[in-house]
Amino acid sequence: MGIVLGIESSCDETAAALVTTDRRIIAQRIASQDEVHAPYGGVVPEIAARAHANRVTPLVAEVMAEAGMELTALDAIAATAGPGLIGGVMVGLVSAKALAMASNVPLIAINHLEGHALSPRLADPALTFPYALLLVSGGHCQILQVDGVGQYRRFATTIDDALGEAFDKTAKILRLGYPGGPAVEKLALAGDASAVPLPRPLVGSGEPHFSFAGLKSAVMRAKDSGLYRNEDIAASFQQAAIDCVLDRLNVSLGDGGGLPALVVAGGVAANQAIRAALENFAQARTMRFVAPPLALCTDNAAMIAWAGAERLASGQNDPLDFAARPRWPLDQDAEPVRGAGAKA
Ligand code: KG4
Ligand code: ZN
Repeated sequence: MGIVLGIESSCDETAAALVTTDRRIIAQRIASQDEVHAPYGGVVPEIAARAHANRVTPLVAEVMAEAGMELTALDAIAATAGPGLIGGVMVGLVSAKALAMASNVPLIAINHLEGHALSPRLADPALTFPYALLLVSGGHCQILQVDGVGQYRRFATTIDDALGEAFDKTAKILRLGYPGGPAVEKLALAGDASAVPLPRPLVGSGEPHFSFAGLKSAVMRAKDSGLYRNEDIAASFQQAAIDCVLDRLNVSLGDGGGLPALVVAGGVAANQAIRAALENFAQARTMRFVAPPLALCTDNAAMIAWAGAERLASGQNDPLDFAARPRWPLDQDAEPVRGAGAKA
C-alpha cells in the first residue's frame, strides 16, 4: 500500500489530500475562492493565483498534521500540472516540486482532466477499463472512451462553451451569483421546463460535438423579453442542456458500442437532473451508470492524489523540471474542432 499527497490549483479551488493506493482518503482540505471571485461574476486568473499562493502551504500542512505523517513517509507527491489557469497551476506545481525535492519523494505531474476521468474509480473499485466518459466541467465538455491510465479516445468536444460555462452564464443572466451551476439547478426545481421555448443546438445533427453558445443567447433573449419567470427559464435551460447531452451521447455511443459502463465526471456531474437523465440513457443500453460522490465531482485534490496513485502503480514519476501546461488534451491525437479554441 502506498500513500500519495495530491495538490490541486488549476482553477478556483486550492486543495490538498492524502489518498492511499487502496482507495482510502486519509485527509483532505479544500479552500474555495468563490467569495473572492463573486464580485466579478467569474474567476479572475491573477486573483486566483495569489489566493492559491497564500493557501497551498497551510493546506498541505493541515492534511499532513491530520494524518500525523511526515512528508518523507509519502510514496509520491502528485500535483495538477495543467490544463488550467496557468498562474494557479504553476503555484501548485512549484509547491509540489519544492516538497518533493526537500523530502526526496517522487513527483507525479497530473493532467487535471485525468483527475476527473479517473475519480470514479477512486469511489468504485468495480469500475474497470474500458468505460465511456462524459466529462463536464466549467472548462471542458467531452465524450471519451477511457481504455486505461493515459489511454483516451475523444469522440466529442465543444465548439464553443463548456456545459458548466453555460450553467454559469445562465446564472449570470438570471443574477443568481457565482458559481452558477448549483444555483440554476436549485431554481429549476421550482420551474416549468416546458415554459420557455429554447433551442437545442446541434440536436439531430450527425456530427458529434457540443455547442451551447446559441442556447445561452436564447436564455438572454428570454430574460430580456420580460415574459418569463426566472424559475421557468432555469428549468427550461436545464432541460434543453440535458436534451443536448443525451443527443450528443447517442451520436457518439449509439447503443453503447460494447462499453460496459457510462461514467460522468467533472463539476456538472453534481447536477441531480443530469445524473437521472444519464442513468436512464445507460439503463436503456444495458450499460452500468457510475457517478462519483458529489464531493469528488467538483475540483478537489483527492482525485489528483488518486490519479497519482494510479500512475504510481504503473511506475511513473516525473522530473522536477516538468513544465506546467496551459493546454493538455487527454487524447493527444484528437483533431482540433472548429471554434474550439482553448477548450479542445
Ligand atoms: O470541475 P469543476 O469544479 O471545475 C472545472 O474544472 O471547471 O467544475 C465547475 C463547474 C462550474 O461551471 C459549475 O457551475 C458547474 O461545474 N457545476 C454545476 C453544478 N455544480 C457545479 N453545474 C450544474 N449543476 C450543478 N449542481
Ligand atoms: Zn475540474
